[in-house]
Amino acid sequence: MAASDASERAAERDEDRRLFVAYTISATLWLLLTTAVGLLLSFKFPYPDLATSPYLSFGRLRPIHTNGTFYGFASVALTGIAFYVVARASGRPLWAPKLAWAALWCFNIAALAGSVTLDLGINNGDQEYREWVWWVTLFFLAALVLSLIALVGTVARRAESDIYISNWYLCGAYIFTIILGITAILPWYQHGLGQVAVQGFYMHNAVGMWFTFLALGTLYYALPKLLNRPIYSYALGVLGFWTNLVFYPVIGAHHFEFSPLPWWFQTLAIVFSVGMLVPVVAGTANFALTIRGRWERVRRSYALPFLVVGVAYYFLGSSQGTVEALRSLQAVWHLTNFTVGHSHATMYGFITFVAWGGIYGLLPRVTGKEPNLLAAGLHFWLALLGVTLYVGSLSVGGTLQGLDWLHGDPFIASVEAASPFWVARAVGGSMMFVAHLCFAYNVYWMTLGRRAVHAATPAAAGAQPAR
Ligand code: HEM
Repeated sequence: MAASDASERAAERDEDRRLFVAYTISATLWLLLTTAVGLLLSFKFPYPDLATSPYLSFGRLRPIHTNGTFYGFASVALTGIAFYVVARASGRPLWAPKLAWAALWCFNIAALAGSVTLDLGINNGDQEYREWVWWVTLFFLAALVLSLIALVGTVARRAESDIYISNWYLCGAYIFTIILGITAILPWYQHGLGQVAVQGFYMHNAVGMWFTFLALGTLYYALPKLLNRPIYSYALGVLGFWTNLVFYPVIGAHHFEFSPLPWWFQTLAIVFSVGMLVPVVAGTANFALTIRGRWERVRRSYALPFLVVGVAYYFLGSSQGTVEALRSLQAVWHLTNFTVGHSHATMYGFITFVAWGGIYGLLPRVTGKEPNLLAAGLHFWLALLGVTLYVGSLSVGGTLQGLDWLHGDPFIASVEAASPFWVARAVGGSMMFVAHLCFAYNVYWMTLGRRAVHAATPAAAGAQPAR
Protein backbone atom coordinates (compact mmCIF):
# COMPACT_ATOMS: atom_id res chain seq x y z
CA MET A 1 0.00 0.00 0.00
CA ALA A 2 1.34 3.46 -0.85
CA ALA A 3 1.63 6.17 1.75
CA SER A 4 -1.52 8.24 2.37
CA ASP A 5 -2.06 11.26 0.13
CA ALA A 6 -1.46 13.65 3.02
CA SER A 7 1.89 12.11 3.84
CA GLU A 8 2.72 12.01 0.12
CA ARG A 9 2.10 15.74 -0.14
CA ALA A 10 4.07 16.43 3.02
CA ALA A 11 6.92 14.52 1.45
CA GLU A 12 7.12 16.82 -1.54
CA ARG A 13 10.01 19.20 -1.44
CA ASP A 14 11.13 22.02 -3.70
CA GLU A 15 14.26 20.21 -4.74
CA ASP A 16 12.25 17.12 -5.78
CA ARG A 17 10.06 19.34 -7.93
CA ARG A 18 13.08 20.95 -9.59
CA LEU A 19 14.53 17.50 -10.28
CA PHE A 20 11.35 16.34 -12.04
CA VAL A 21 11.35 19.53 -14.14
CA ALA A 22 15.05 19.25 -15.05
CA TYR A 23 14.80 15.57 -16.02
CA THR A 24 11.74 16.27 -18.18
CA ILE A 25 13.32 19.22 -20.00
CA SER A 26 16.52 17.28 -20.61
CA ALA A 27 14.61 14.24 -21.93
CA THR A 28 12.53 16.44 -24.22
CA LEU A 29 15.61 18.02 -25.81
CA TRP A 30 17.01 14.54 -26.51
CA LEU A 31 13.65 13.42 -27.91
CA LEU A 32 13.68 16.30 -30.41
CA LEU A 33 17.28 15.83 -31.44
CA THR A 34 17.30 12.06 -31.77
CA THR A 35 13.95 11.75 -33.53
CA ALA A 36 15.00 14.48 -36.00
CA VAL A 37 17.84 12.07 -36.77
CA GLY A 38 15.33 9.17 -37.01
CA LEU A 39 13.25 11.23 -39.41
CA LEU A 40 16.25 11.91 -41.65
CA LEU A 41 17.03 8.18 -41.59
CA SER A 42 13.50 7.32 -42.65
CA PHE A 43 13.78 9.66 -45.69
CA LYS A 44 17.07 8.02 -46.68
CA PHE A 45 15.17 4.85 -47.61
CA PRO A 46 13.07 6.36 -50.43
CA TYR A 47 15.83 8.93 -51.24
CA PRO A 48 19.17 7.12 -50.78
CA ASP A 49 21.15 10.08 -52.19
CA LEU A 50 19.94 12.40 -49.44
CA ALA A 51 22.71 13.80 -47.15
CA THR A 52 25.69 11.70 -48.19
CA SER A 53 28.44 13.29 -46.04
CA PRO A 54 30.12 10.70 -43.75
CA TYR A 55 28.78 12.61 -40.72
CA LEU A 56 25.25 12.17 -42.03
CA SER A 57 25.67 8.61 -43.29
CA PHE A 58 23.12 5.95 -42.36
CA GLY A 59 25.72 3.82 -40.54
CA ARG A 60 26.64 6.65 -38.15
CA LEU A 61 23.21 8.21 -37.70
CA ARG A 62 21.32 5.00 -36.98
CA PRO A 63 23.11 4.22 -33.68
CA ILE A 64 22.91 7.92 -32.75
CA HIS A 65 19.12 7.60 -33.12
CA THR A 66 18.78 4.29 -31.28
CA ASN A 67 21.19 4.99 -28.41
CA GLY A 68 19.97 8.58 -28.12
CA THR A 69 16.27 7.68 -27.91
CA PHE A 70 17.07 4.86 -25.46
CA TYR A 71 19.57 6.51 -23.14
CA GLY A 72 19.15 10.25 -23.70
CA PHE A 73 15.35 10.44 -24.00
CA ALA A 74 13.45 7.42 -22.59
CA SER A 75 15.87 6.60 -19.75
CA VAL A 76 16.00 10.20 -18.55
CA ALA A 77 12.23 10.80 -18.87
CA LEU A 78 11.41 7.62 -16.94
CA THR A 79 14.11 8.22 -14.31
CA GLY A 80 12.62 11.67 -13.64
CA ILE A 81 9.24 10.00 -13.14
CA ALA A 82 10.82 7.24 -11.02
CA PHE A 83 12.31 9.75 -8.55
CA TYR A 84 8.92 11.42 -8.18
CA VAL A 85 6.93 8.17 -7.88
CA VAL A 86 9.30 6.37 -5.49
CA ALA A 87 9.40 9.39 -3.15
CA ARG A 88 5.62 9.88 -3.23
CA ALA A 89 4.79 6.18 -2.83
CA SER A 90 7.26 6.01 0.08
CA GLY A 91 5.77 9.08 1.78
CA ARG A 92 9.24 10.64 2.08
CA PRO A 93 11.23 13.21 0.14
CA LEU A 94 13.86 11.80 -2.19
CA TRP A 95 16.88 10.68 -0.19
CA ALA A 96 20.21 12.32 -1.20
CA PRO A 97 18.83 14.39 -4.11
CA LYS A 98 22.40 15.46 -4.95
CA LEU A 99 22.92 11.93 -6.26
CA ALA A 100 19.94 12.41 -8.57
CA TRP A 101 21.47 15.67 -9.89
CA ALA A 102 24.81 13.93 -10.42
CA ALA A 103 22.98 11.12 -12.26
CA LEU A 104 21.37 13.68 -14.58
CA TRP A 105 24.82 15.03 -15.45
CA CYS A 106 26.10 11.51 -16.10
CA PHE A 107 23.11 10.64 -18.32
CA ASN A 108 23.71 13.80 -20.36
CA ILE A 109 27.49 13.43 -20.61
CA ALA A 110 26.97 9.85 -21.83
CA ALA A 111 24.33 10.82 -24.41
CA LEU A 112 26.37 13.79 -25.66
CA ALA A 113 29.75 12.04 -25.76
CA GLY A 114 28.08 8.94 -27.23
CA SER A 115 26.43 10.89 -30.06
CA VAL A 116 29.58 12.90 -30.88
CA THR A 117 31.90 9.87 -30.89
CA LEU A 118 29.48 7.84 -33.00
CA ASP A 119 29.26 10.69 -35.52
CA LEU A 120 33.06 10.81 -35.68
CA GLY A 121 33.06 7.09 -36.49
CA ILE A 122 34.40 6.07 -33.04
CA ASN A 123 32.37 3.10 -31.80
CA ASN A 124 32.31 -0.27 -30.12
CA GLY A 125 31.51 -2.18 -33.32
CA ASP A 126 28.09 -3.21 -34.52
CA GLN A 127 26.58 -4.66 -31.34
CA GLU A 128 23.12 -3.11 -31.32
CA TYR A 129 22.36 -0.63 -28.48
CA ARG A 130 25.93 -0.90 -27.18
CA GLU A 131 27.75 0.92 -29.95
CA TRP A 132 29.04 3.52 -27.47
CA VAL A 133 32.72 3.05 -26.55
CA TRP A 134 33.34 1.67 -23.05
CA TRP A 135 34.18 4.96 -21.32
CA VAL A 136 30.91 6.50 -22.54
CA THR A 137 29.00 3.47 -21.25
CA LEU A 138 30.68 3.95 -17.86
CA PHE A 139 29.01 7.39 -17.51
CA PHE A 140 25.65 5.76 -18.19
CA LEU A 141 26.37 3.01 -15.66
CA ALA A 142 27.39 5.65 -13.10
CA ALA A 143 24.03 7.37 -13.66
CA LEU A 144 22.24 4.09 -12.93
CA VAL A 145 24.24 3.42 -9.76
CA LEU A 146 23.68 6.96 -8.44
CA SER A 147 19.95 6.75 -9.22
CA LEU A 148 19.64 3.35 -7.55
CA ILE A 149 21.31 4.58 -4.34
CA ALA A 150 18.92 7.56 -4.16
CA LEU A 151 15.88 5.35 -4.85
CA VAL A 152 16.75 2.55 -2.45
CA GLY A 153 17.69 5.11 0.23
CA THR A 154 14.22 6.63 -0.16
CA VAL A 155 12.42 3.29 0.00
CA ALA A 156 14.46 2.31 3.07
CA ARG A 157 13.12 5.41 4.85
CA ARG A 158 9.48 4.88 3.74
CA ALA A 159 6.59 5.94 5.96
CA GLU A 160 4.78 2.58 5.89
CA SER A 161 6.12 -0.93 6.20
CA ASP A 162 4.85 -2.24 2.83
CA ILE A 163 6.65 -1.38 -0.39
CA TYR A 164 4.08 -0.33 -2.99
CA ILE A 165 4.23 -2.42 -6.21
CA SER A 166 5.37 0.51 -8.41
CA ASN A 167 8.49 0.81 -6.26
CA TRP A 168 9.33 -2.87 -6.76
CA TYR A 169 9.31 -2.39 -10.52
CA LEU A 170 11.14 0.94 -10.45
CA CYS A 171 13.96 -0.12 -8.12
CA GLY A 172 14.18 -3.52 -9.86
CA ALA A 173 14.81 -1.81 -13.20
CA TYR A 174 18.06 -0.22 -11.94
CA ILE A 175 19.31 -3.39 -10.22
CA PHE A 176 18.78 -5.61 -13.29
CA THR A 177 20.16 -3.03 -15.73
CA ILE A 178 23.36 -2.53 -13.74
CA ILE A 179 23.94 -6.30 -13.94
CA LEU A 180 23.14 -6.14 -17.66
CA GLY A 181 25.46 -3.19 -18.31
CA ILE A 182 28.38 -4.81 -16.50
CA THR A 183 27.86 -8.09 -18.38
CA ALA A 184 27.88 -6.16 -21.66
CA ILE A 185 31.34 -4.70 -21.10
CA LEU A 186 33.12 -7.74 -19.61
CA PRO A 187 36.08 -8.29 -21.98
CA TRP A 188 35.87 -12.10 -22.14
CA TYR A 189 32.41 -12.00 -23.76
CA GLN A 190 33.42 -9.80 -26.67
CA HIS A 191 34.22 -12.39 -29.33
CA GLY A 192 32.87 -15.51 -31.01
CA LEU A 193 29.57 -17.17 -30.19
CA GLY A 194 29.79 -16.04 -26.55
CA GLN A 195 29.47 -12.49 -27.85
CA VAL A 196 26.34 -13.43 -29.82
CA ALA A 197 24.73 -14.98 -26.73
CA VAL A 198 25.61 -11.96 -24.59
CA GLN A 199 24.38 -9.60 -27.29
CA GLY A 200 20.98 -11.36 -27.30
CA PHE A 201 20.90 -11.18 -23.49
CA TYR A 202 21.87 -7.50 -23.52
CA MET A 203 19.78 -6.10 -26.36
CA HIS A 204 16.53 -7.74 -25.39
CA ASN A 205 16.87 -7.05 -21.71
CA ALA A 206 17.76 -3.41 -22.32
CA VAL A 207 14.16 -3.26 -23.46
CA GLY A 208 12.69 -5.89 -21.14
CA MET A 209 14.37 -5.37 -17.78
CA TRP A 210 14.97 -1.65 -18.11
CA PHE A 211 12.28 0.18 -20.08
CA THR A 212 9.51 -2.36 -19.44
CA PHE A 213 10.08 -2.31 -15.68
CA LEU A 214 10.25 1.50 -15.62
CA ALA A 215 7.07 1.82 -17.67
CA LEU A 216 5.17 -0.77 -15.61
CA GLY A 217 6.27 0.96 -12.39
CA THR A 218 4.97 4.25 -13.82
CA LEU A 219 1.65 2.64 -14.81
CA TYR A 220 1.14 1.02 -11.39
CA TYR A 221 1.38 4.46 -9.79
CA ALA A 222 -0.09 6.84 -12.37
CA LEU A 223 -3.13 4.82 -13.50
CA PRO A 224 -4.75 4.40 -10.05
CA LYS A 225 -3.76 7.94 -9.13
CA LEU A 226 -5.39 9.54 -12.17
CA LEU A 227 -8.40 7.22 -12.17
CA ASN A 228 -8.90 7.85 -8.47
CA ARG A 229 -9.32 4.18 -7.60
CA PRO A 230 -7.03 1.40 -6.33
CA ILE A 231 -5.25 -0.93 -8.72
CA TYR A 232 -7.53 -3.90 -9.54
CA SER A 233 -5.24 -6.59 -8.11
CA TYR A 234 -2.03 -6.24 -6.16
CA ALA A 235 -1.44 -10.00 -6.56
CA LEU A 236 -1.48 -9.78 -10.38
CA GLY A 237 1.15 -7.04 -10.12
CA VAL A 238 3.36 -9.31 -8.02
CA LEU A 239 2.76 -12.25 -10.38
CA GLY A 240 3.79 -10.04 -13.32
CA PHE A 241 6.94 -8.90 -11.51
CA TRP A 242 8.25 -12.40 -10.76
CA THR A 243 7.23 -14.01 -14.06
CA ASN A 244 8.93 -11.16 -15.95
CA LEU A 245 12.05 -12.06 -13.99
CA VAL A 246 11.70 -15.76 -14.80
CA PHE A 247 11.06 -15.47 -18.54
CA TYR A 248 12.71 -12.28 -19.77
CA PRO A 249 16.43 -12.97 -19.22
CA VAL A 250 16.45 -16.04 -21.49
CA ILE A 251 14.53 -14.84 -24.55
CA GLY A 252 17.23 -12.70 -26.23
CA ALA A 253 18.49 -15.56 -28.41
CA HIS A 254 15.25 -15.36 -30.44
CA HIS A 255 17.05 -12.54 -32.30
CA PHE A 256 19.58 -15.11 -33.50
CA GLU A 257 17.43 -17.95 -34.76
CA PHE A 258 19.09 -19.99 -37.54
CA SER A 259 22.49 -18.73 -36.29
CA PRO A 260 25.34 -21.05 -35.13
CA LEU A 261 24.13 -20.65 -31.51
CA PRO A 262 23.19 -24.10 -30.10
CA TRP A 263 19.79 -25.18 -31.43
CA TRP A 264 18.52 -26.09 -27.92
CA PHE A 265 19.42 -22.57 -26.75
CA GLN A 266 17.40 -21.02 -29.58
CA THR A 267 14.50 -23.36 -28.76
CA LEU A 268 14.67 -22.38 -25.08
CA ALA A 269 14.46 -18.71 -26.11
CA ILE A 270 11.35 -19.47 -28.19
CA VAL A 271 9.66 -21.41 -25.35
CA PHE A 272 10.38 -18.60 -22.89
CA SER A 273 9.09 -16.06 -25.45
CA VAL A 274 5.78 -17.90 -25.28
CA GLY A 275 6.05 -17.88 -21.46
CA MET A 276 6.22 -14.07 -21.67
CA LEU A 277 2.48 -14.15 -22.29
CA VAL A 278 2.03 -14.77 -18.53
CA PRO A 279 3.43 -11.42 -17.28
CA VAL A 280 2.03 -9.57 -20.28
CA VAL A 281 -1.52 -10.84 -19.79
CA ALA A 282 -1.27 -10.40 -16.00
CA GLY A 283 -0.17 -6.77 -16.43
CA THR A 284 -2.59 -5.87 -19.23
CA ALA A 285 -5.56 -7.49 -17.48
CA ASN A 286 -4.71 -5.69 -14.25
CA PHE A 287 -4.55 -2.30 -15.98
CA ALA A 288 -7.65 -2.95 -18.13
CA LEU A 289 -9.70 -4.00 -15.09
CA THR A 290 -8.51 -0.91 -13.23
CA ILE A 291 -9.67 1.30 -16.11
CA ARG A 292 -12.99 -0.57 -16.57
CA GLY A 293 -16.02 1.65 -15.99
CA ARG A 294 -13.96 4.86 -15.87
CA TRP A 295 -13.99 5.72 -19.59
CA GLU A 296 -15.66 9.07 -18.98
CA ARG A 297 -12.73 10.06 -16.82
CA VAL A 298 -10.30 8.88 -19.51
CA ARG A 299 -12.15 10.93 -22.12
CA ARG A 300 -11.94 14.11 -20.03
CA SER A 301 -8.26 13.74 -19.17
CA TYR A 302 -5.30 14.73 -21.34
CA ALA A 303 -2.93 12.32 -19.54
CA LEU A 304 -4.98 9.11 -19.28
CA PRO A 305 -5.39 8.53 -23.06
CA PHE A 306 -1.58 8.31 -23.34
CA LEU A 307 -1.52 5.65 -20.61
CA VAL A 308 -4.39 3.73 -22.21
CA VAL A 309 -2.55 3.66 -25.56
CA GLY A 310 0.57 2.56 -23.66
CA VAL A 311 -1.33 -0.39 -22.15
CA ALA A 312 -2.84 -1.34 -25.53
CA TYR A 313 0.55 -1.26 -27.28
CA TYR A 314 2.11 -3.14 -24.34
CA PHE A 315 -0.25 -6.00 -25.08
CA LEU A 316 -0.11 -5.77 -28.89
CA GLY A 317 3.66 -5.27 -29.16
CA SER A 318 4.54 -7.95 -26.62
CA SER A 319 2.19 -10.61 -27.99
CA GLN A 320 3.47 -9.73 -31.48
CA GLY A 321 6.95 -10.51 -30.10
CA THR A 322 5.79 -13.94 -28.89
CA VAL A 323 4.31 -14.79 -32.29
CA GLU A 324 7.35 -13.39 -34.10
CA ALA A 325 9.68 -15.67 -32.13
CA LEU A 326 8.15 -18.87 -33.56
CA ARG A 327 10.57 -20.49 -36.04
CA SER A 328 8.05 -20.82 -38.87
CA LEU A 329 7.38 -17.05 -38.76
CA GLN A 330 11.00 -16.04 -38.16
CA ALA A 331 11.73 -17.87 -41.40
CA VAL A 332 9.80 -15.05 -43.11
CA TRP A 333 10.50 -12.03 -40.89
CA HIS A 334 14.13 -12.60 -39.87
CA LEU A 335 16.27 -9.52 -40.76
CA THR A 336 13.37 -7.73 -42.48
CA ASN A 337 11.82 -4.34 -41.68
CA PHE A 338 9.06 -6.16 -39.80
CA THR A 339 11.39 -6.13 -36.77
CA VAL A 340 11.81 -2.36 -36.96
CA GLY A 341 8.00 -2.05 -36.91
CA HIS A 342 7.95 -4.27 -33.81
CA SER A 343 10.63 -2.12 -32.10
CA HIS A 344 8.56 1.02 -32.61
CA ALA A 345 5.33 -0.70 -31.48
CA THR A 346 7.02 -1.48 -28.17
CA MET A 347 9.50 1.35 -27.63
CA TYR A 348 7.20 4.04 -28.98
CA GLY A 349 3.61 2.73 -28.66
CA PHE A 350 4.24 1.34 -25.18
CA ILE A 351 7.28 2.91 -23.50
CA THR A 352 7.15 6.42 -24.98
CA PHE A 353 3.37 6.78 -24.56
CA VAL A 354 3.62 5.69 -20.91
CA ALA A 355 6.44 8.21 -20.34
CA TRP A 356 4.27 10.96 -21.87
CA GLY A 357 1.23 9.89 -19.82
CA GLY A 358 3.36 9.94 -16.67
CA ILE A 359 4.70 13.40 -17.43
CA TYR A 360 1.31 14.90 -18.39
CA GLY A 361 -0.35 13.24 -15.39
CA LEU A 362 2.22 13.99 -12.70
CA LEU A 363 4.25 17.04 -13.71
CA PRO A 364 1.37 19.58 -13.48
CA ARG A 365 0.79 18.37 -9.90
CA VAL A 366 4.36 19.40 -9.12
CA THR A 367 4.57 22.72 -10.96
CA GLY A 368 0.91 23.78 -10.81
CA LYS A 369 1.19 24.62 -14.51
CA GLU A 370 -1.02 23.04 -17.13
CA PRO A 371 -0.25 22.17 -20.75
CA ASN A 372 -2.06 23.73 -23.68
CA LEU A 373 -5.03 21.44 -24.39
CA LEU A 374 -4.98 21.90 -28.16
CA ALA A 375 -1.28 21.05 -28.30
CA ALA A 376 -1.88 18.02 -26.04
CA GLY A 377 -4.65 16.79 -28.36
CA LEU A 378 -2.49 17.31 -31.45
CA HIS A 379 0.39 15.56 -29.73
CA PHE A 380 -1.79 12.55 -28.89
CA TRP A 381 -3.44 12.07 -32.28
CA LEU A 382 -0.37 12.79 -34.43
CA ALA A 383 1.77 10.43 -32.35
CA LEU A 384 -0.88 7.68 -32.28
CA LEU A 385 -1.75 7.85 -35.99
CA GLY A 386 1.91 8.36 -36.92
CA VAL A 387 3.21 5.34 -35.02
CA THR A 388 0.32 3.16 -36.19
CA LEU A 389 1.11 4.09 -39.81
CA TYR A 390 4.81 3.47 -39.09
CA VAL A 391 4.21 0.02 -37.57
CA GLY A 392 1.49 -1.00 -40.05
CA SER A 393 3.48 -0.06 -43.15
CA LEU A 394 6.67 -1.79 -42.02
CA SER A 395 4.72 -4.90 -40.99
CA VAL A 396 3.34 -5.24 -44.52
CA GLY A 397 6.55 -4.08 -46.25
CA GLY A 398 8.70 -6.38 -44.08
CA THR A 399 6.47 -9.38 -44.83
CA LEU A 400 6.76 -8.74 -48.59
CA GLN A 401 10.56 -8.45 -48.26
CA GLY A 402 10.74 -11.77 -46.39
CA LEU A 403 8.49 -13.57 -48.88
CA ASP A 404 10.64 -12.32 -51.77
CA TRP A 405 13.78 -13.65 -50.08
CA LEU A 406 12.08 -16.99 -49.37
CA HIS A 407 11.09 -17.30 -53.02
CA GLY A 408 14.70 -16.63 -54.02
CA ASP A 409 13.78 -13.51 -56.02
CA PRO A 410 16.60 -11.07 -56.91
CA PHE A 411 17.34 -8.78 -53.93
CA ILE A 412 16.25 -5.69 -55.87
CA ALA A 413 12.73 -7.19 -56.12
CA SER A 414 12.44 -7.01 -52.32
CA VAL A 415 13.64 -3.37 -52.40
CA GLU A 416 10.99 -2.50 -54.97
CA ALA A 417 8.30 -4.33 -52.97
CA ALA A 418 9.19 -2.49 -49.75
CA SER A 419 9.73 1.00 -51.21
CA PRO A 420 6.09 2.30 -51.08
CA PHE A 421 5.99 1.22 -47.44
CA TRP A 422 9.19 3.15 -46.71
CA VAL A 423 7.45 6.28 -48.04
CA ALA A 424 4.48 5.56 -45.75
CA ARG A 425 6.88 5.11 -42.81
CA ALA A 426 8.47 8.50 -43.59
CA VAL A 427 4.98 10.09 -43.58
CA GLY A 428 4.17 8.42 -40.24
CA GLY A 429 7.58 9.52 -38.90
CA SER A 430 6.89 13.13 -39.94
CA MET A 431 3.60 13.07 -38.02
CA MET A 432 5.42 11.67 -34.98
CA PHE A 433 8.03 14.41 -35.17
CA VAL A 434 5.38 17.16 -35.32
CA ALA A 435 3.79 15.49 -32.27
CA HIS A 436 7.13 15.84 -30.46
CA LEU A 437 7.19 19.57 -31.23
CA CYS A 438 3.72 19.85 -29.62
CA PHE A 439 4.97 17.92 -26.60
CA ALA A 440 8.01 20.20 -26.29
CA TYR A 441 5.70 23.23 -26.43
CA ASN A 442 3.66 21.71 -23.60
CA VAL A 443 6.73 20.86 -21.54
CA TYR A 444 7.56 24.56 -21.77
CA TRP A 445 4.08 25.43 -20.46
CA MET A 446 4.25 22.83 -17.68
CA THR A 447 7.66 24.01 -16.47
CA LEU A 448 8.96 27.45 -17.46
CA GLY A 449 5.69 28.97 -18.72
CA ARG A 450 3.31 31.19 -16.77
CA ARG A 451 1.29 29.60 -13.95
CA ALA A 452 -2.22 28.07 -14.22
CA VAL A 453 -3.32 28.36 -17.83
CA HIS A 454 -6.40 26.28 -16.92
CA ALA A 455 -7.99 25.98 -13.51
CA ALA A 456 -8.98 22.53 -12.17
CA THR A 457 -8.04 19.90 -14.68
CA PRO A 458 -9.15 16.37 -15.38
CA ALA A 459 -5.59 15.12 -15.08
CA ALA A 460 -5.16 16.77 -11.73
CA ALA A 461 -8.37 15.20 -10.50
CA GLY A 462 -7.98 11.96 -8.58
CA ALA A 463 -6.30 12.94 -5.41
CA GLN A 464 -6.84 9.59 -3.73
CA PRO A 465 -3.80 7.56 -2.79
CA ALA A 466 -2.73 4.76 -5.08
CA ARG A 467 -2.93 1.47 -3.24
C1 HEM B 1 9.90 10.57 -35.32
C2 HEM B 1 10.01 9.41 -34.69
C3 HEM B 1 10.91 8.29 -35.18
C4 HEM B 1 11.33 7.98 -36.45
C5 HEM B 1 10.97 8.68 -37.75
C6 HEM B 1 12.17 6.81 -36.35
C7 HEM B 1 12.83 6.21 -37.42
C8 HEM B 1 13.71 5.16 -37.34
C9 HEM B 1 14.46 4.59 -38.43
C10 HEM B 1 14.42 5.08 -39.88
C11 HEM B 1 15.20 3.55 -37.96
C12 HEM B 1 16.17 2.67 -38.74
C13 HEM B 1 15.44 1.47 -39.27
C14 HEM B 1 16.29 0.52 -40.07
O1 HEM B 1 17.48 0.33 -39.83
O2 HEM B 1 15.73 -0.09 -41.01
C15 HEM B 1 14.89 3.43 -36.55
C16 HEM B 1 15.38 2.44 -35.72
C17 HEM B 1 15.04 2.33 -34.38
N1 HEM B 1 14.36 3.25 -33.61
FE1 HEM B 1 13.30 4.84 -34.31
N2 HEM B 1 12.23 6.43 -35.04
C18 HEM B 1 11.48 7.31 -34.28
C19 HEM B 1 11.31 7.29 -32.91
C20 HEM B 1 11.88 6.36 -32.05
C21 HEM B 1 11.76 6.36 -30.61
C22 HEM B 1 11.07 7.46 -29.80
C23 HEM B 1 12.40 5.24 -30.17
C24 HEM B 1 12.59 4.74 -28.77
C25 HEM B 1 12.17 5.33 -27.67
C26 HEM B 1 12.95 4.55 -31.31
C27 HEM B 1 13.66 3.37 -31.26
C28 HEM B 1 14.25 2.76 -32.34
C29 HEM B 1 14.89 1.46 -32.29
C30 HEM B 1 14.99 0.56 -31.08
C31 HEM B 1 15.38 1.19 -33.57
C32 HEM B 1 16.12 -0.07 -34.02
C33 HEM B 1 15.10 -0.99 -34.66
C34 HEM B 1 15.58 -2.40 -34.87
O3 HEM B 1 16.76 -2.64 -35.14
O4 HEM B 1 14.75 -3.32 -34.79
N3 HEM B 1 12.61 5.27 -32.43
N4 HEM B 1 13.99 4.43 -36.20
